[in-house]
Amino acid sequence: MADKKRTTPAPEVGPSSPTPASATTPETTQSPAAPAQSPTTAQSPTAAAAATEPAHTSTDSDILPAQHWQNAPIEEAEFDDDDEDADSAFGGGTDSTASLSESILNFRNLHGRTYHSDIGAAAAWTPNDESQAESMDIHHHMCTLLLDGKLFLAPIPDDVQKVIDIGTGTGIWAIDFADTYPAANVIATDVSPVQPNWVPPNLSFEIDDANQEWTFKDNTFDYIHLRAMFGSIADWGAFYREAFRCCKPGGYLEDHSNSVKFDSDDGSVTPDSPMGQWTKVFWEGGRKFGRSFRVVEDSLQEKGMREAGFVDIVVRDFKCPIGAWPKDKRLKELGSFAKLVLESDMEGYILYMWSAVMGWKPDEIQVFIAHLRRQLNDKAVHAWYQHRVVYGRKPA
Ligand SMILES: C[S@@+](CC[C@H](N)C(=O)[O-])C[C@H]1O[C@@H](n2cnc3c(N)ncnc32)[C@H](O)[C@@H]1O
Repeated sequence: MADKKRTTPAPEVGPSSPTPASATTPETTQSPAAPAQSPTTAQSPTAAAAATEPAHTSTDSDILPAQHWQNAPIEEAEFDDDDEDADSAFGGGTDSTASLSESILNFRNLHGRTYHSDIGAAAAWTPNDESQAESMDIHHHMCTLLLDGKLFLAPIPDDVQKVIDIGTGTGIWAIDFADTYPAANVIATDVSPVQPNWVPPNLSFEIDDANQEWTFKDNTFDYIHLRAMFGSIADWGAFYREAFRCCKPGGYLEDHSNSVKFDSDDGSVTPDSPMGQWTKVFWEGGRKFGRSFRVVEDSLQEKGMREAGFVDIVVRDFKCPIGAWPKDKRLKELGSFAKLVLESDMEGYILYMWSAVMGWKPDEIQVFIAHLRRQLNDKAVHAWYQHRVVYGRKPA
C-alpha cells in the first residue's frame, strides 16, 4: 500500500475507519524543545522547577492563576469527595522488582508521590506508585474497549517473532500481547521498575530510557509498540529514527497517543473552565518542560515516522467521550471508563506539571482539582478527547 493523502475531518465518536496518513498542517508549531529536565523532589527542587516560571507569572496569558480557583465557589458535597480521594491518592505505595540495583529503586518524591530515579534523559511526569498504576490499568481496559478488544491495529503476521513495548508502565499491554502470541519474544521497557514478577514466560522487562540511543541492535524487532508517551519524549524525530533503526525491514511501528485537549461539540467545555485550563497548562507546561503534549495537534507521529523512513503510514482517529453522557450504550461505557481513568488518580496526572513545572503550591493544586472533579461530574458537560493510532512499515 502506498502513502496516500489525508484530510482530517473531525473524528467520529468512538472507533473510526482507517485513514491513510499525509502531512497535515499543525494548528501551531511548538517552540524548540527546552533542555531535558528531571523530576524534582519536594525537598530539593531541581532545575526543572527552578528554571520555570510559576503559572502566576506565566507568559501564556490564557492560563488563569491559581488564585482564580481559590476564589471560585465549589459546592460543599463535591469538595468533600475530593478531599477524601486526595488523601488516598497522596503517598501511594510502590511495587518493585527484586533484581534491580539500588539506584534504580531510589525513587524521587514530590509531595508524597514517587517518581522514577535519575536515569539518562528521562523525566516522566506521571508517578510510579500504586494509585497511578491503577489508573494506567483502567486506561488499558478503556483502550481495548475503544479498539473493539484489539491490542493493536497494524497488520502484523500471526507468527510475529520479536516485539517491544516502549514505556510499558505496569506492563499490562505487554502481558496481554505475550499471552496472545506465546511464540513471540516480547520485551517491555520503562524507566520505572514497577512491573509485576509473574508474567508470561515469553515476556521480559528492562529498564531503559527511550530518550537516549536505544540499547538494541539494528533490525531487531518485527513490531514496536508504544502508547500514551505524550509528554515523555524530548525529541520525537530522534525517537522514531531509533525505532526505525531497531525495526526489521518489513516490520511495523505502532504509536497510540491522545490529545490532552478536552473538547466538546456543544461548547460545554469553555477555555476558562477547569477542563479548558487543563489543556492550556499541559500545552504551556510541555513547552517549558521540553516534552510536547501536542503530539496529536502537531501531527508528531505521522511527521516523525515519515521523516524516519517508515512507509504505508496509517492514521486512525477516535473520539473518546469523557463521562456517561453519550446515549449509545457502548460509548456510555467507554466514557465512564475514560472518566474513571482520570478520577482514579487526578493528582497523579496533575501534580508534576502544575507543581514542578508551573510552580503551583499543593493546596492551590488541590483546589483546582476540586473544580476539575466538579466539572467532570457535571451532566451538562459533554466532553471528549481525541485518541490517535498511527502505524507504519519499515520498507523491506
Ligand atoms: C502514561 S504511562 C503509559 C504506560 C503504558 N504505555 C500504557 O499505555 O499502559 C507512560 C509510561 O512511560 C514511562 N516513561 C516515561 N519516560 C520514559 C522514557 N524516557 N523511557 C522509557 N519509559 C518512559 C513512564 O515511566 C510510564 O510508565
